[in-house]
Amino acid sequence: MGGRKKVTVIGAGNVGATVAQRVAELNIADVVLLDIPLTEKMPMGKALDLLETGPVLGYDTLITGTTGYDETADSDVVVITSGLPRKPGMSRDDLLLKNAGIIKQVTESVIAKSPNCIIIVVTNPLDAMAQLAYVVSGLPKGRVIGMAGVLDSARYRTFIAQELDVSVQDVTAFVLGGHGDTMVPLPRYSTVAGIPITELLSADRIKALNERTANGGAEIVNLLKTSAYYAPAASAVAMVDAILLDKKRVLPCATLLEGEYGVNGLFVGVPCKLGSEGVEQIIEIKLQEDERQALQKSIDAVSELVEVMKQNMPEVKF
Ligand code: NAI
Ligand code: 2OP
Repeated sequence: MGGRKKVTVIGAGNVGATVAQRVAELNIADVVLLDIPLTEKMPMGKALDLLETGPVLGYDTLITGTTGYDETADSDVVVITSGLPRKPGMSRDDLLLKNAGIIKQVTESVIAKSPNCIIIVVTNPLDAMAQLAYVVSGLPKGRVIGMAGVLDSARYRTFIAQELDVSVQDVTAFVLGGHGDTMVPLPRYSTVAGIPITELLSADRIKALNERTANGGAEIVNLLKTSAYYAPAASAVAMVDAILLDKKRVLPCATLLEGEYGVNGLFVGVPCKLGSEGVEQIIEIKLQEDERQALQKSIDAVSELVEVMKQNMPEVKF
């Protein structure tokens, strides 16, 4: 089929609108921005504002705002950001059942119009919501992906670069596990121009950077009184770009593990190869005992949330 690719963004709030803006600016796909009728014509307003930005920035992207799913038909990629964000004092898990209801309804509506799309879930609690979208969608596992690791590793990269006074461009970082306080930054695989940070920083400083990374979401919530959106949106769009342009980028994403890392049947963040089929490969590395234990803690935290959903959503066939 010819024509331009289509990216639908569900939820036209802070993250969703910023995702729409960044995709528009990349000029690689048309964009549909959807929110609920309760928000009246807000998505139409934001879409028109973004459309009118095109002549200034030089993009031809068509951006359509809507409160219904007809316009989303035949989307290539759907980014789901609908749901409640964290407020001060709230954990991501507090959001669980409220957002689960939203993700279920949204995923059913998306799939009815775009049965072959690739879904990127952003809504929190991330790993559990990605798992729910996967089960409800009936899509092959590589086509439902959770965004968290790109953001978490971007935060880690930022802090490493600041600490060492080097360019972020030369810093790569590796974060495994669920998107929560138990996420597992891996210093052995986090480098400055290929040099592991374990060679460059003391154990105490690394511990401090790891903790700041794991609490990176809460740090922004405390400042902003709602959750972050610039870096989260940029992270989701990096994934959209890798998929639409079949880049085969290796990015940390939440994906269904079926034996990898000793995990079975759970969405958890691991390094994935992203291309036109979504997650095309899961990259497995050997962990040291302390890393394995930290990952297990993170997996247990995700698993607990999935259990709560299983008990409260008997209509969903997990
Ligand atoms: P927001 O409140 O600004 O936007 C959410 C939008 O979803 C609202 O406009 C709301 O009307 C809409 N919505 C609610 N129910 C809907 C439905 N059934 N259908 C369509 N739209 C619906 O929130 P924000 O800041 O954009 O955050 C969105 C979600 O993303 C939150 O759950 C937040 O915790 C999560 N998040 C996840 C990150 C990650 O790393 N995975 C990073 C940042 C945010
Ligand atoms: C973040 O990490 C709250 O998940 C959101 O910023």
